[in-house]
Amino acid sequence: MAFTIAIDGPAAAGKGTLSKGIAAHFGFGHLDTGLLYRAVGWRMLSGEDPIEAARGLMPEDLDRADLRTPEVAQAASKVAVIAEVRAALVDFQRAFARRAGGAVLDGRDIGTVICPDAEAKLFVTASAEVRAERRYLELTGKGQIVTLDQVLADVRARDERDMNRAEAPLKPAEDAVMIDTSKLDIDAALGVAIAAIRTKMPAQ
Ligand code: DC
Repeated sequence: MAFTIAIDGPAAAGKGTLSKGIAAHFGFGHLDTGLLYRAVGWRMLSGEDPIEAARGLMPEDLDRADLRTPEVAQAASKVAVIAEVRAALVDFQRAFARRAGGAVLDGRDIGTVICPDAEAKLFVTASAEVRAERRYLELTGKGQIVTLDQVLADVRARDERDMNRAEAPLKPAEDAVMIDTSKLDIDAALGVAIAAIRTKMPAQ
């Protein structure tokens, strides 16, 4: 049975952790679609044309350990405004979404553009300050040297670019369930998300 859960929201709102927890709970596959844009951004930083990079993207490109740096995040958000880059990544995402056994995809445009017919849609958000603090702890925990101010400025710059681009801007689908994680810990947010998704599943 195919069952698609679309999870969208701004940078560092907790989508990644929530998506992994939801996929584990239901035994579904998980695709972090931000990694596709990060892999293209990484290849652009190495001098490649981003459209060619998106068209030639290989599964092993997603396994690079250095896709989670602030530089690559900004590059990802920049290549993500290019219509041809987005178009080159659509088929892969849609095929994953309809895989047998269920799929969770997280990103910016999953519920609006990639999977408008997804059975369940969540829009996960939190204040910019809370998101910056979480991302700061994550980056410094991995030994990266950043300041909270820098991380907040980065989060705001990405929000601005992701929400105001012409192609597939970040916005909630009309039928998305909104979850604000500013005041929720992981377990509480996961509980809210799973309860919302269950209401969309056929009765057992
Ligand atoms: O989720 P993330 O922080 O790894 O995403 C990195 C960038 O990729 C994000 O700033 C915008 C872009 N992106 C996108 O445009 N559409 C998606 N579905 C996922 C990410």
